[in-house]
Formats: sequence, structure tokens, C-alpha cells
Amino acid sequence: MSTLKKELLSEITSLNTTVIELRHHLHEHPELSNQEEKTTALLQDILKETPLKITTYETHYGLIAELIVDESRPFVALRADIDALPINEQTLVNYSSETKGIMHACGHDAHTAILLGVALAFSKLQQPLNANLRFIFQPAEEVLDAGAQEMIADGVLENVKAIFALHAYPYLPTGQIGYKYGVMLASADMFEIRIKGKSSHGARPHEGVDAILVTSMVVNALNHIVSRQIDPLHPAVISLGTIEGGKAANVLCDHVVLKGTVRTVNHDVRGKIPEMMRITMEGICKSMHASFEFDYTYGTPEVCNDKKMVDLIVNEAREVLGEENCIDLQDPVMGGEDFGFYLEKVPGAFIRLGTCSDNEESCYSQHNSRFNVDDHALQYGMKVLALSAIKALEDV
Ligand code: NI
Repeated sequence: MSTLKKELLSEITSLNTTVIELRHHLHEHPELSNQEEKTTALLQDILKETPLKITTYETHYGLIAELIVDESRPFVALRADIDALPINEQTLVNYSSETKGIMHACGHDAHTAILLGVALAFSKLQQPLNANLRFIFQPAEEVLDAGAQEMIADGVLENVKAIFALHAYPYLPTGQIGYKYGVMLASADMFEIRIKGKSSHGARPHEGVDAILVTSMVVNALNHIVSRQIDPLHPAVISLGTIEGGKAANVLCDHVVLKGTVRTVNHDVRGKIPEMMRITMEGICKSMHASFEFDYTYGTPEVCNDKKMVDLIVNEAREVLGEENCIDLQDPVMGGEDFGFYLEKVPGAFIRLGTCSDNEESCYSQHNSRFNVDDHALQYGMKVLALSAIKALEDV
């Protein structure tokens, strides 16, 4: 192991307690997406004591911190998300959320603390780096339609040759990471359908167009698209989450609104599904004398890892954790993550950081009101990200 890596690992070890305390502080003070004012201010306060160059934004929260050795050299970027969720915390820890109804239930407090720890460790290095480093503290990941895109629009990927991020993962024990080649997480799109019929007396259905009956057929048919029109080797999900319509038991409903989400791991499938849905609804509505409106919103793209970057991060992780603790996850999951926007533009890798200890309190699933991260996992996250950054800096 190079002296640079050794120096970095020793800085991380000495920062460990500080980083755990920072994580607890962030956990106590969670902020929702697009409201991360105090979190951003805290990061700024800590980072302004370092030689890192800080940039904040007028139109959104979050910030970047840069370690610049030579403006003309490329950058390697590391990214953390900083927002929390509208969940009422029910963990048993003494640093639980002080804000009722808001909670770090996805581990973004851990991501933020880990990245801060890595930034602090790099800022203390005595030896010069080969290129520049950019630490991206991104707001609004949970809403999937703001944070990453705003940061990218503000230029955080300029001159970036490689990007890495990790996510807390309670399905692996502390001390392990999970990786995957290619698509790791699905694209996540949203849609709204408005079925329009014609009201009449419930006793005289032939004088109206029953939007509820039409909707029932639409719901049924949409659920057959994946099973009968999509190649079974390409996972896809079309889920309807809300349905609203009707006012009275004896009145034929003239208007139903449906909302749902579409998940895919394949670009072509993603492109075809809206049209398949439209054709399905057209056929049903026409035969029933109803009409419909359909709004389809493309959300986050798939999180697609670059093979070379996965090899890089896994090689570094093996040095820190041992080969047996780097787990090939094999299958993608259908959840979404806006890190996909970065990976559309720059090669990089997204990995899972095991955060489940012997204490079952650290093993609840994400977005559960009991979710919490094992403190011991933070140092492993810092070490893997830091060594990967060093290696990527050597390669640029
Ligand atoms: Ni998350």
C-alpha cells in the first residue's frame, strides 16, 4: 500500500469518533428535501476551517467542497445525499430526531458524515495529489426530481472523470460492501391518468358512462402489460398507487384519477411502456365511450455502474475489508436513486455499505421508522471511498 494511502487511512482512523458524533448530530436534526438549510450551514461551518474551496448555491441547498491541486487537471467526484424523510422516528437511540415527523430513515445522515470525514481526511494530507477532488453534498435525493439535476445544472460534473457514491444497506452486515456491474437500480417514472365518463342516476347506467367500470378495466389491463408485452428477461414494474373517484352511492361516477409509478432496468423497455399504456387505455376507453388524459413524467434513469469503476472500487474495498467481504449482489433492485443522473454523464460506481450489526436495531429496512445505521460501518465507508478516490486520481 502506498504511503499516501497509509497516511489517508490513519487520518480516517483518527477522525472516526468525530464522524460518528457528526452523524448523531445530523440524525437529531433531519431536514426534508429542499429544506436542508441547517444541514448545509453545518457542513459549510465545518469545511470552512479546511483549505477546501466551498461553493454554495442561491437556488438550492447543498454545497460542493473542492481540493484543487491544479485547475487545469481533471476532477474525481464523491457524492453524498443530505436530506431526510417525512417519517416519525421510533428508534430507541439517544440521538433520535428532535423534529417530530421528520427522520433520517434512509441513512443519508451516515452518507453525509462519511463524505465529510473523507473530505476532512483529504484536507489534512501532507502529500500532493495527482489531480483535483470534488465532494458533492447533494440536497433533495428523496424526491428524485430535483437534487441531482440541480447540482449537475450548476456544473458539479464539469471536468469530472470518475464519480463514486455509497448507500447504507441493512441487508449486509457491517464490514461488508455490495457491488454490481451494470444496472444496479431501476429507472423511476411517475404517471397520472384521468378517466372521463358521464354521470347519470345509478339506476339508469345506460344514460351515462361509468368511469369506475372503465377504470376497473384499465387497472386490470395495465397490470397485464408487464406479463404479456415485455420480455420476461427485462424486469419491469407498473404499479398504481392511488385511485380517486365518485361522490355518491347512487350516482354514476364521471371522473376517476389514478396515479402510479413505472420501474425498468432497460432503456428500450422504458421507452416503450408509455406507448403501451396509452394504446391499452385508448382501446378500452373507445369501446366504453369514455375518454382519458395521460401524463407520463420521466424521473430518474437507471443507476448503471461502469465496469472499470466497479473493478476499481471493489479492488480498493478488498484491501480494506478483505475479499470475502466484497459481495457481488448479482440482481438489480427496482428502487430508484437520482445518482443515475450523474452516471448518465460520467463513468462511476454506486455501492452498498453494510450497516447491520449484531444489534437488530441496526437491521430495520430503509424508510422504516426504526431504521438506523451501525456506527461502526462509517469508518469502512470512509476508507473505501477515500482509497477509491486516490486510485481514480492516479488513473485520470
Ligand atoms: Ni437513500
